[in-house]
This record gives sequence, C-alpha cells and structure tokens, in this order.
Amino acid sequence: MNKVGYIQFKPILGDQNANIMQIEKLLGKALGSELIVFPELANSGYNFASRNDAVMYSEEISKSIFVEFLVSSAKKYNTNIVCGVNERVGEKLFNTTVLVGPNGYIGKYQKIHLFLNEKDIFETGSVGLPVFDIGFCKTSMLICFDYLFPEVWRIVGMNGADIVCHPSNLITTNAQKCVPAQAFMNKMFVITANRYGTESDITFSGNSFITNPDAIIIDKASPDSDAVYIIDIDIAEARNKMVTSRNHVFNDRKPDVYLGLT
Ligand code: ACM
Repeated sequence: MNKVGYIQFKPILGDQNANIMQIEKLLGKALGSELIVFPELANSGYNFASRNDAVMYSEEISKSIFVEFLVSSAKKYNTNIVCGVNERVGEKLFNTTVLVGPNGYIGKYQKIHLFLNEKDIFETGSVGLPVFDIGFCKTSMLICFDYLFPEVWRIVGMNGADIVCHPSNLITTNAQKCVPAQAFMNKMFVITANRYGTESDITFSGNSFITNPDAIIIDKASPDSDAVYIIDIDIAEARNKMVTSRNHVFNDRKPDVYLGLT
C-alpha cells in the first residue's frame, strides 16, 4: 500500500509569502504521505484583476522562490508534491503544475484547456502530457477544466499513468460527474485537489476528492475549509485494466473507427 493525498486550502490572491506559510503549516499535517497534491495556481490565487496583475504574481520556474520552497519541503518530508504555479516564460504566462520529489524538481505540466478568462491571460500548454515515474507509481498531471476532455485522460492512461494528479480551482461540481468516469474508463486513481474561498465574483467549490479505478470517490473534503487527506491505496488496482474477463479498457479500443476525431 502507498500513502497519497491532497491538501485543500484557500490561496490568497497576490500574496505568495502568505501562501507559502499556509502550505508549510498544512504540509506538517500530511506526515508519511508519498504523494501530496495541492490546488491550481496555489502561489498566486486565480481571479486576477488584469493580465498585468497575473504577470506581477508569476515566476519563472528556474528562479522561483515558490518552487524552491516546494523542493525543500519535499526533501524535508521525504515526499512527492504536485502543486499549481503561475508560471512566466519570457512574455508568456502558463497555468502550470510542478512535480517535485525528495531529490528535487522532477517536471511540469502546463494546462491545455483554458477556462473562461484564463484565455485572456495564459497560453495553451506547450509541454504535452508527460507521465513521470516516481518509483512507487507513474503519475501525470491535468489541471481543473482539463477534466472535460476524455482525450487527455486516455493519453496519460495509455502512457502508463497509475495516478492522475488534478490540481483545481473548480467553481462548479461538474468535475465530480466527469472525473469518476475518466478514472473508470482508464482504470486510474485521480487526486482532485481543489481550493475554497471567494475572489471578487468567483467562489470556489472545495470538495476535493480522490477517485479510485472503479470510479468510487473514496475521500471528499468540505466545500469551505482547509483539509488534509492521506489514504492508503493499492497501485495494483490501477494496473489491472480488465473490466470483464474479456474486456481490456485499452486493448478493446477500435482506433480505425476514431480517425474522424482529429
Ligand atoms: C478551472 O479550470 N479553473 C475551472
């Protein structure tokens, strides 16, 4: 068995130092975890008044105080951490998640499916859909609204992801309808780490949850408070891709029929 989980909290818009302090406090309650997932844009908050504000609250990964803090925390607690970061690359911004582990920075994912006003701020992700081997499992990252697009779940599933880390700033509860289906259709675990709180006209929906490969939601947080959930999972459940004695979720596909998709 392996211990994985999420931390739900309320990032403060534009106050990275406060967010670091909050994360540090909550991480101290997640002792023993091997993979812990935080919400989307956890360094900066979400509902920027302007693109200029978003730029002001962004960092380059290679010089990021926030990522450096995550790296030292992963080392300190001997764990892997996935966390949302407002990333600047030259003049461009990306809604990014980083994966760091006890030995340092591992990699990143940049959100592909941008939601509402994110389209005025961020570029479409340009690093594809990487899957990372972190020893006890293979993991990938999708961000919030990516939940609506089965294609990306299939790709990371077929590339070996046992666990999809899903940092989010959800507003609706539609992800609770879609994510269990994606988990089942690809036989993977999904850790959806949402935030709560209000930023001007947006209220985030909390209710972070972990879904198992049978589409069962096995842990769910409250809509409006901090939460630290760590559970034991059996990765073998994500490596059995059979749904009946004669049906395999990947091998039974009929790609020739799907050519019209692209
Ligand atoms: C979202 O993609 N932050 C809803």
